Amino acid sequence: MKTVKFFDTTLRDGEQSPGVTLIPEEKLAIAKQLEKMRVNVIEAGFPIASDGDFNAVKMVADNIKEIEVAALCRCRKKDIDRAWDALKGAVNPRLHIFIASSPIHLKYKLKMTEDEVLNSAVEAIKYAKQYTDNIEFSAEDAARSDVDFLCRLLNAVIEAGAKVVNIPDTVGYIVPSEFGNLIKTIKENTPLIDQAEISVHCHNDLGLAVANSLAAIENGATQVEVSVNGIGERAGNAALEEIVMALYTRQDYYDMEITQDTTQIARLSKLVSNSTGMSIQPNKAIVGANAFAHESGIHQDGVIKERTTYEIMDAKTIGLEQNKLVLGKHSGRHALKDFLEKYDYELDDKTFNNFFKRFKDLADKKKNVSNADIFALLDNELYDY
Ligand code: KIV
Ligand code: ZN
Repeated sequence: MKTVKFFDTTLRDGEQSPGVTLIPEEKLAIAKQLEKMRVNVIEAGFPIASDGDFNAVKMVADNIKEIEVAALCRCRKKDIDRAWDALKGAVNPRLHIFIASSPIHLKYKLKMTEDEVLNSAVEAIKYAKQYTDNIEFSAEDAARSDVDFLCRLLNAVIEAGAKVVNIPDTVGYIVPSEFGNLIKTIKENTPLIDQAEISVHCHNDLGLAVANSLAAIENGATQVEVSVNGIGERAGNAALEEIVMALYTRQDYYDMEITQDTTQIARLSKLVSNSTGMSIQPNKAIVGANAFAHESGIHQDGVIKERTTYEIMDAKTIGLEQNKLVLGKHSGRHALKDFLEKYDYELDDKTFNNFFKRFKDLADKKKNVSNADIFALLDNELYDY
């Protein structure tokens, strides 16, 4: 059965979210939770960026034993040396080397020709090989690159020793069918491609990061780069929990073995949100507060009768205790009765009908009806306050 590897970059690209800085201890706590979830690789940081980041990568590398730890570097000897210094204590270290490949980046940022970029990438990989064979190469802005040059570049870095070639959609520009075709074209036009793993790294500027990653998987990518809660530069990266749960929930379609422990998702998501200070929108897929909540009477009645009427995933699968029936103006008698039973109240029909009416009157005026509100209403009804 096929599997896809998860390369988590919460601690590197995720930390590049505006306003986010993680101290080494916070990075280590997140890394341990990622290890528990059994992602395959953690990208711990960009050691040349600061002494703090160097220390954080070192702390993660020295303490994470079960999975690979990666560090990012440009095609520069001093970056590679610094990254290796931070990584060398790891059981499974990976050097992640990148350079841009798109005409826009070559012209305005790097001021280099295609051949200069290719030579720089090949030299960097040859240099890094003195430290490890586990080398990943990323062609930054690959999705906006000339495909002939991209294939030539990927072939050259594989020949130089790269074991993973990563195809980033750095600015979140590409759309799913186009990205799927790009992966297919790379496979068909890069002679040495079978000697390397194909990875993808999708940004979410158009809200397509997860869809693009799935399209890439369907066309032969075997590693996806992701972040918890989808955090990262600008609109962020493909969300780890969304891709894991898409593959898990639609095994009938993807026919893939999921080796990650999905029950760690809720804890991991909260930990990242608390450590980064980035709150999660309530309707965020999988980990938003409303992802397993039902408010309308029809839906509540449905899930009370049979959960799968309105749920494609069981809340327990991601480590939550249960789904939530939220009591509000759209709720029906069934959900309210369920609530009362949970707290051992038995109301005769007449009392219940009066109580239900009071509840609806209140819910019409208030967005959130809390448990305390309901108990106050009950006291009113039962003791005639
Ligand atoms: O978005 C990007 O291109 C990156 C690379 C460094 C992999 O983050
Ligand atoms: Zn990125």
